[in-house]
Amino acid sequence: MDSTPAAWAAADQFLSDTLVGHDPALEAALEAQRAAGLPEIEVAPVGGKLLNLLVRISGARRVLEIGTLGGYSTIWLARAVGEGGRVVTVEAESANAAVARESIDAAGVGDRVEIRVGRGSDVLPTLVGGFDLVFIDADKESNTVYLDWAAKLGHPGTVVVLDNIGREGEIVRDDAVDPKVVGTRDALRMLGDDERFDATALQTVGLKGWDGVALALVV
Ligand code: DHB
Ligand code: MG
Repeated sequence: MDSTPAAWAAADQFLSDTLVGHDPALEAALEAQRAAGLPEIEVAPVGGKLLNLLVRISGARRVLEIGTLGGYSTIWLARAVGEGGRVVTVEAESANAAVARESIDAAGVGDRVEIRVGRGSDVLPTLVGGFDLVFIDADKESNTVYLDWAAKLGHPGTVVVLDNIGREGEIVRDDAVDPKVVGTRDALRMLGDDERFDATALQTVGLKGWDGVALALVV
């Protein structure tokens, strides 16, 4: 096979079909998101399931998500924390939060999900800490601010997952001007330099093109 975006997507679709399968609540959430005109930039199905497994592997009960969008990843996280668990998810756009609220409730996990509407820089300082896992998937320009809050609102042992670290290879450019690339490069350097974190990152190809995810432990 030639390594083309179409081939990456086809292979990713095979993985989704094989390992994730048909999931009516998640598919309804995507349909609601699309119908409301939200951007289709949610995590891929295999990425959502990775989040779900990371919560369960780490035993996280209190999860913070920065960037709710339409609630697709939120549902994956909320299922993983179990009945006594809690997900706090921060969303800057109230229209997105309204779509997410309906989909999360319809998925049957609404009682464990609190949506906080506002910019991360305004909402995060108001949160009570103690989160066991933090998923950062919001405006890339603010990634270092979000990492700082993840450390402050976490504890030694907290798992931090940062989405979209690949940016089609643009992360190598030290002359980058795209603020999303600059924000991502800065975040990766922070994960390498800041002694609060021990981190790695994996590039991915798939339904979302050439991208990747960073995984960190708060030490
Ligand atoms: C973008 C944001 C995301 O969170 C994502 O997964 C893909 C793309 C974006 O802003 O371009
Ligand atoms: Mg993302």
